[in-house]
Amino acid sequence: MALPSINPTITNSWNKLKAHFDDVKDVKMKDLFAKDSQRANKFTIKWEDFYVDFSKNRITEETFKYLLELADDVKLKAAIKSQFSGEIINETEGRAVLHTALRAPKDADFKVDGVNVMPEIYQVKQKIEGFTNEVVNSDRKGYTGKAFTDVVNIGIGGSDLGPAMVVDTLQYYKNHLTTHFVSNVDGDHVNEVIKKLDPETTLFVIVSKTFTTQETLSNANTLKAWFLKSASEDAIAKHFVAVSTNIKNVKAFGIDENNIFPMWDWVGGRFSLWSAVGLTISLAVGYNNFDSLLKGANKMDEHFKNEDFDKNIPVVLALISVWYNNFFGAESEAIIPYSQYLNQFATYLQQGIMESNGKSVDRNGNPIDYQTGTIIWGEPGTNSQHAFFQLIHQGTKLIPADFIGFAKSLHGNQDHQDKLTSNFLAQTEALLNGKTREEVVAEGTSESIIPFKIFEGNKPTNTIYINKLSPESLGELIAMYEHKIFVQGIIWNIFSYDQFGVELGKQLASKILQEFNSSTNNEHDSSTINLLNYYKQMS
Ligand code: F6P
Repeated sequence: MALPSINPTITNSWNKLKAHFDDVKDVKMKDLFAKDSQRANKFTIKWEDFYVDFSKNRITEETFKYLLELADDVKLKAAIKSQFSGEIINETEGRAVLHTALRAPKDADFKVDGVNVMPEIYQVKQKIEGFTNEVVNSDRKGYTGKAFTDVVNIGIGGSDLGPAMVVDTLQYYKNHLTTHFVSNVDGDHVNEVIKKLDPETTLFVIVSKTFTTQETLSNANTLKAWFLKSASEDAIAKHFVAVSTNIKNVKAFGIDENNIFPMWDWVGGRFSLWSAVGLTISLAVGYNNFDSLLKGANKMDEHFKNEDFDKNIPVVLALISVWYNNFFGAESEAIIPYSQYLNQFATYLQQGIMESNGKSVDRNGNPIDYQTGTIIWGEPGTNSQHAFFQLIHQGTKLIPADFIGFAKSLHGNQDHQDKLTSNFLAQTEALLNGKTREEVVAEGTSESIIPFKIFEGNKPTNTIYINKLSPESLGELIAMYEHKIFVQGIIWNIFSYDQFGVELGKQLASKILQEFNSSTNNEHDSSTINLLNYYKQMS
């Protein structure tokens, strides 16, 4: 069954929200807190080891009620059911969207075209487990009989960002293997990685759903050529493995059939780290930790699927984000983890969120006249406090932010943890309250400087506070954002699971590439012609 196509802006709830927005747009959150001592409790969801406080938002109980009505008006409950039951909700590509099946228990029943996919998933999981154990325990060796010391993940987009982010985030849980990620077609990337490698002890994991991606194949060929300078062709079988749906192309590359880890077209690239695309994660932190990551995601799936919307974390975060995006006109959202481990988290989410919901045509194929996908950016605190926080505090733009923190430090350094946490809490408090003229005056500030020291405040934040960073809680956190993406796509009446917008540039790049080595020029604008000729001259 197709997803319903409902223009959100003509629903009753949207109209109520519009009228309501006029009433509350200037309301100060600090007044709302002053009026209602229960506000924080009312707008907090406690679930498993998550404490999600969304009270520091420019919402009232009435706003929340209308936002929940919006979820009903766009038939969100039915859409969730359609997703989980394997319906072809990625209609433009004719595919189901079942990354949730990858983390479901063995006895679950996820059907694609009437066939339960769980047995296949568990076969691949078993293969990942077996392979991981052999490499980690040094039972599988390189062509000269030495154990592997390094793993190179070769992929881009969803075949790189997810694994790279998770490996970096879970570095505390890492084993002895050193992992490297090669993604950019910029040859300097692969060559810098090569400098660190020994062909005898390096395992290459080529990850490409399509196995046609220019960047990945170029890097894989460069690494293969480098490897073959020291080893013979038959050593490839020991050192190269691939994750792909395109078995034919993988074999043509020279990879042994036993070294192919299949994936499926019902898993989108940016939602694929739970599949064999996560092989490098499993190698880096061990299969049990990889499995815990999946179990965490599955817990969030169950929460999302079953919980009432007013206590449903991904739904609530999605609705609040729609409130700012579509009513306040906020253009971007910041993701600020108070954990250095989550250094790559915003970059990872950029693909998930912006590739999914960066759409301007609705599910009927008509142009949209309201805002869709938000711009995502961010860096860990406290570093970001010393970089871009000035603009969030005193700039002219409204930037809702998710503050993500962990109560416990992994290394147990309480002094640092206290300081980190005090900043984590202080920033959302400062963004909420700001600083009034009276407060600035009371500090003894000279008259001429007073205006510059006033903070308007009233800047919205969500606090996502998690007990401890673990493979399981990371799985929960990633799945939380995946479901937020889905909810927003449903509300905005767009297809979140295709990415045609990345194709045009690829097509033009391949045309231009041909022109570098020929005298014929395709038709280009004069700017592109000049640049192309300049490159030919310079290179
Ligand atoms: O950037 C477009 C895209 O198709 C992404 O969606 C995907 O994650 C990436 O390219 C890599 O694709 P593949 O895994 O097929 O190499």
